[in-house]
Amino acid sequence: CGIVGYIGNNSAKEVLLNGLERLEYRGYDSAGIYLLNQDGQFGQLYKEQGRIAALNDKVNAAETTNMGIGHTRWATHGVPSVSNAHPHQSASGRFTLVHNGVIENYQELKADYLADVDLQSETDTEVVVNVIEHFAQTENLDGKEAFKKALAVVEGSYAFALIDNQTPDRLYAAKNKSPLLIGHGEDFNTIVSDAMASIDITNQYIEIHDGEMVTLTNDEVVIENRDGQEISRDPYTAALDANDLGKGTYPYYMLKEIDEQPAAIRRIIQEYQDDQGQLTIDSEIIAAMQASDRIYIIGAGTSMHAGLVGQALFEQLNGIPVEVHVASEFAYNMPLLTEKPFFIFLSQSGETADSRQVLVQVNELGYDSLTITNVKGSTLSREASYTLLLHVGPEIAVASTKAYTGQIAVMAVLADVLANAQGRKLDFDMETELSLVANAMETVVDDKDHLHEIATQIFTDVRNAFYIGRGLDYYVSCEAALKLKEISYIQTEGFAGGELKHGTISLIEDGTPVLAVISQKDTAAHTRGNLEETRARGANTVVITMEGMERQDDQIVIPAVHSLLAPLVTVVPTQLLAYYASLDRDLDVDKPRNLAKAVTVE
Ligand code: G6P
Repeated sequence: CGIVGYIGNNSAKEVLLNGLERLEYRGYDSAGIYLLNQDGQFGQLYKEQGRIAALNDKVNAAETTNMGIGHTRWATHGVPSVSNAHPHQSASGRFTLVHNGVIENYQELKADYLADVDLQSETDTEVVVNVIEHFAQTENLDGKEAFKKALAVVEGSYAFALIDNQTPDRLYAAKNKSPLLIGHGEDFNTIVSDAMASIDITNQYIEIHDGEMVTLTNDEVVIENRDGQEISRDPYTAALDANDLGKGTYPYYMLKEIDEQPAAIRRIIQEYQDDQGQLTIDSEIIAAMQASDRIYIIGAGTSMHAGLVGQALFEQLNGIPVEVHVASEFAYNMPLLTEKPFFIFLSQSGETADSRQVLVQVNELGYDSLTITNVKGSTLSREASYTLLLHVGPEIAVASTKAYTGQIAVMAVLADVLANAQGRKLDFDMETELSLVANAMETVVDDKDHLHEIATQIFTDVRNAFYIGRGLDYYVSCEAALKLKEISYIQTEGFAGGELKHGTISLIEDGTPVLAVISQKDTAAHTRGNLEETRARGANTVVITMEGMERQDDQIVIPAVHSLLAPLVTVVPTQLLAYYASLDRDLDVDKPRNLAKAVTVE
């Protein structure tokens, strides 16, 4: 979900509509905007299910105002619908609220304070806005005090933006566990859940921390902590360039981002080079990793899959045992930790609530952590002991591509620099090998027509599909399967080649696509054997392999790269196959149903 609020000298509605469009990439199922005029007499509320385009006409025709709040909603409590869409209003219409996050005690709040209120939606947010009104009325508090009082009884995660019709010269905001920033400009301020939402009008942002409440006017930002003390905090410059955010001539962001991967890898090499051209990483990070007896890699979705490749890199190049965990599992089923654990958080957005939940615990336990993320200043990067950036540029498509390869490349640099510090001599030059990876990626992205043909051939009219591989090829298979299923809705599994025969092979029918990733010499023959087993049962098989490997009449052959780095290249054709499968089905490639780019609820 996304929040954007504006107060200033200009018209609010354009800023809000543009902001919601900028937030579209995060995924949503409904959207809404509330505008209030200067004397507080005239509030206009618009909500629509589906795309923001549906809001445009109505909001464009609305009266011009200098303040307003907007929201894109990704359903958590209650189905996607107009009544569940934000903003939500209190019963009298005095207060209007947008919210990201989940209020855990909303049933209790309802029972304690709202017995007489007839609620219009199934949302926790409508409960909160009515609790604010309840305190304003029953305790005769002004809007700000009533908001504070409500915050004191609300439990859960939230980023709130609030309008009180009685104070039409100010906006209120508060944050706990969900991302929230203040955008600051000349004669205006914004409230945003993501800097992207107001990047077209300012690159100056002020971080808001958990437990803080903010009051904004045209030219003032007052931040208060839970005890009511004022906090002063300088803005930082967001490293986003509005020009990077366009699609250019591409039909979809996903295709653009797939194509950007060779350049992204070269950029990572540059960003992590010292003046002498040697790969380098902050020595404190290296020292902390050297001192650890086990690395725990935490992530969700695609980032977790990148972690699996990271495990192989650190174990093979550094000799440090590594465990990779799904964040949402680790948070509530923490394994026994070793004596000196070191945590690596992989998160494109740096905002995933599941991962952050683990980081909060790791910080409480006092262990060192490193966040590898694409977003400077993101929550996970601020709260970890150390941060490394991906430098791959904003990733807009919901399906992650360049962030996955970027994460692996940054971990490869890290493993290389750590190996040097450990005095372990590697028998290859990481920088050269990563450059070869970039070149190989370029060859693959130039082969689009061929990949489109294969996608059409094997995925038309199928309901399910499999990717198989062993070792590193298995890890890529997991990511390839996730990519295909998330944007084409073909049910796809990534399977360890040898495991398929122990049950799942019963799903293979005539024409079921089975794609094998074969880039590792030691397991190639076995995976080919497993592929044969499926072909004998009617599967439509495709091999993705690498030059220099023993070959048969394989359909997809990538240029040769170092075997440890092969996942960076074998994944690229699988991204393109997924892209074309989605395109062939006339689906919205960049915005698959039910998915959000960054999931900020647990
Ligand atoms: C969401 C996205 C996935 C992503 C995952 C983790 O579920 O849809 O594409 O891999 O979150 O996101 P992160 O920003 O932490 O890498």
